[in-house]
Amino acid sequence: MPSLYEKSIQIIKKGQYESGAYIASPNFPTYQYCWLRDGSFTAYAMDRAGEYSSADAFFRWAGRTIQKHSDKVEEIEQRLKSGLPIGKDDVLHTRYDLRGEEVTVDSAWGNFQIDGYGTWLWALAEHVKLSGNEKILCDLKESIEITLHYLDLVWQMPNYDCWEEHPEYLHAYSLATVFAGFDSMAMLGDLRLISYGENCLNDKAEYVKGFLWRSSVSDGKMVKHIWPARNDELPKPVPHSGVDASMIGMVVPYKVFEADDPVLKRTIPCIEKDLLRPGGGVYRYKADVYYGGGEWILLTAWLGWYYVKVGRVTEAKNLMRWIESQVTPEGFLPEQVSGHALFPNQYDPWLKKWGPVASPLLWSHAMYIILHQEIAQAD
Ligand code: BGC
Repeated sequence: MPSLYEKSIQIIKKGQYESGAYIASPNFPTYQYCWLRDGSFTAYAMDRAGEYSSADAFFRWAGRTIQKHSDKVEEIEQRLKSGLPIGKDDVLHTRYDLRGEEVTVDSAWGNFQIDGYGTWLWALAEHVKLSGNEKILCDLKESIEITLHYLDLVWQMPNYDCWEEHPEYLHAYSLATVFAGFDSMAMLGDLRLISYGENCLNDKAEYVKGFLWRSSVSDGKMVKHIWPARNDELPKPVPHSGVDASMIGMVVPYKVFEADDPVLKRTIPCIEKDLLRPGGGVYRYKADVYYGGGEWILLTAWLGWYYVKVGRVTEAKNLMRWIESQVTPEGFLPEQVSGHALFPNQYDPWLKKWGPVASPLLWSHAMYIILHQEIAQAD
């Protein structure tokens, strides 16, 4: 019997198409596509597992896909210069079909989500560090530049968050990915591996960080949503939005702030208090009703990843054990488990709408691989 670690690698390989795209979940009709967010974490996990060619194929698929749709970026620039509005389909989409084409089946889908693009740049920089494959940067130079330019144009525009909700706001998590996109490429510039105005990228990263600091902190803690600049109003935190587990990303892996930063030292305990079920897993946010708002495998692994980074290895191991106890008889990790859902009566409506919870979810398996590697390295 393969271990869950080995099985996770197999599931991811099986979910990677010839094109290089990773399917979000092979058995869930609504997730038959590749999201840049899920895919980038999955590629990073494969890099951590030494499966460099799988990660390489994903990054190249994403590069080709971004290039294929790059006319949109020029169009956005023109529209912004002329003061014209940006329509919901003028932007680069958050997910594509496995060939890299835009998905048109559901015209109401919230396609404008910037975080996948920041995460793609971050994961690509990690790929270069982990695999030593510097050549990929030359091969993907154009798509890297298009992505940087795109983020630069749109990062202050309201867009959907990483859970594909709240298009009326900016989001702390999404901005952390933008920071990481600029910062990781600036670092490669410092190493003379890319030549895209590295000094200006450092400045851009610092600017995003300053913006986050100024606009997302309420009562000494960071909150999930930011009210965007409007007319003469400055951006400001949305205090009632509270915390979201994705904000762990602020420290791990995007390193926007150090773990001992006073704001983060007050924010992470709020995530633990509000979203970690004692002896269990991690919820997305307090008001989550998606499939009743269950505990998410990938977020539980994410908190474990953070624990390893701050030396709380025993707690990380407990979370890893909890994840292992959630494996289905087929050896799959689902997106979420519903036994202790926040709003159990909201489970059935989703079941009726989209069928059983996505399982396996490649992103869940990816985060398990990352946590497993982190713990192994800490021991
Ligand atoms: C989640 C997204 C994710 C997508 C595919 C959605 O339900 O909110 O974060 O990218 O599923 O896994």
